[in-house]
Amino acid sequence: MPSPSVSLSTAKPTTAQADALILGIRGDEDKGEFAAILDLLGFTGEKGQTVTFPGGDGIKASTVVAVALPEAPTAEDLRRAAARGVRAAKNATSIALALHPAGVDEVEAIAEGVALGGYVFETYKSAKKDAKKKVLTSIVILSPFARQTTATKAVERAATVAEAVNVARDWVNTPPGDLRPGAFAEAITAHAGTDVRVSVWDERRLAKEKCGGILGVGQGSDSPPRLVTLSYEPADAVAHLALVGKGITFDSGGLSIKPGASMQTMKLDMAGAAAVVAATVAIARLGLPIKITAYACLAENMPSGGATRPGDVLHMRSGATVEVHNTDAEGRLVLADGLALAAEAKPDHIVDVATLTGACVVALGELTSGVMSNDDELGETVLAASRVAGESMWRLPITEEMKGKVTSSSIADLRQHNPKPYGGALFAAAFLREFVGDISWAHIDIAGPSFNEGGATDYTPVGGTGVGVRTLVRLATELSTTR
Ligand code: BES
Ligand code: MN
Ligand code: ZN
Repeated sequence: MPSPSVSLSTAKPTTAQADALILGIRGDEDKGEFAAILDLLGFTGEKGQTVTFPGGDGIKASTVVAVALPEAPTAEDLRRAAARGVRAAKNATSIALALHPAGVDEVEAIAEGVALGGYVFETYKSAKKDAKKKVLTSIVILSPFARQTTATKAVERAATVAEAVNVARDWVNTPPGDLRPGAFAEAITAHAGTDVRVSVWDERRLAKEKCGGILGVGQGSDSPPRLVTLSYEPADAVAHLALVGKGITFDSGGLSIKPGASMQTMKLDMAGAAAVVAATVAIARLGLPIKITAYACLAENMPSGGATRPGDVLHMRSGATVEVHNTDAEGRLVLADGLALAAEAKPDHIVDVATLTGACVVALGELTSGVMSNDDELGETVLAASRVAGESMWRLPITEEMKGKVTSSSIADLRQHNPKPYGGALFAAAFLREFVGDISWAHIDIAGPSFNEGGATDYTPVGGTGVGVRTLVRLATELSTTR
């Protein structure tokens, strides 16, 4: 679907030319000339409330969608309100948004909300079904800052970031049979275009490079694994950030097979790789002065006569040996090789993103990602970036207890899985930490927020959410300005 054009205007809400006017109502004081109709429709200003009424009578737009805003809306409030408004105006071909942005950051948030909220995944729907649906072609954001170049730049930035989020969503939503490791590597290469350098290692190269973790996980599938490395190296780089993504294109659990119901959504298990790739390409397109090297670790976790067994020992890229206890704890094995490769490049920081553990969802719920780190300062920087980006994250510790468990294999250097069902997210992080040496590193477990099994809310659609992309772009922005 072609994305609509987004522009800025200083027009007053009442004179804006559009099918639908999205009108933000702050608190109670702001109803102004719309007080009578809003009261009539029972609009109280309660969080999330949306009412629709016809225009005319001094309003140029045919339809008005009033959306409730707090007294002093944050960027995230506006991101959500914009999305809610756009989704309420389903068949509009043109939309004007009057959401009273307090500054350029708020303009950017509105533009993001519009592009994120308008997302739909229709690749697998027969075209005729939606033939009646009108296509949204033009969006105007009303703002007193409309004529400032900083506002124009903010809208462009929002479009780049939202496009990245939507690409990650598309990849997550694609059926797993259509996005096996080879196909995903090709899709990544195509998306990167000429903006970043791409190299793809196939199974033979992975063997030569001693990536026993990625190979061990992938060996049960007849679609062999891949490691895709992206690099963006601007001349003015002030820091080097390495990103590593879990890219299990389907997680059946392997021989430690999952029950059917848990397998249903396991196409989501490449959401980390999707996020780091989409973010890297966005960072390059934004021209941020930071060097990025991203490693997407792609494998399909399947049971077969050739699959890795519980009890096998894998020889990892780092030189460590790992005793496998549960082939369903595969993410840490592919990430371990990606992290080791990242560490070899000696970047300033490494951040990995992974749908790693159900335990993290138990700890933090379905909407909050867990952040674990060997460097408090980086952990806090990631968390701060997530807040600005509007992605809910929370730090979890890597406890001493888990360090002991990770090194407790009787026959190998490390054990892959903690048989006790407690603190699984922390054990996994303690395992990953073994592969980054002394480099500043943070791990983001997105198992909960990567996929929305419920209905669409605000700018979060059903299915893949693209979580992580906005935080990574924000983090790269931080790291390239504060150093
Ligand atoms: N991909 C799953 C984690 C997951 C669970 C992601 C639910 C999204 C939603 C991961 O590979 C997995 O299977 N983890 C196991 C680990 C266990 C065997 C130590 C889990 O969480 O049960
Ligand atoms: Mn698994
Ligand atoms: Zn998995």
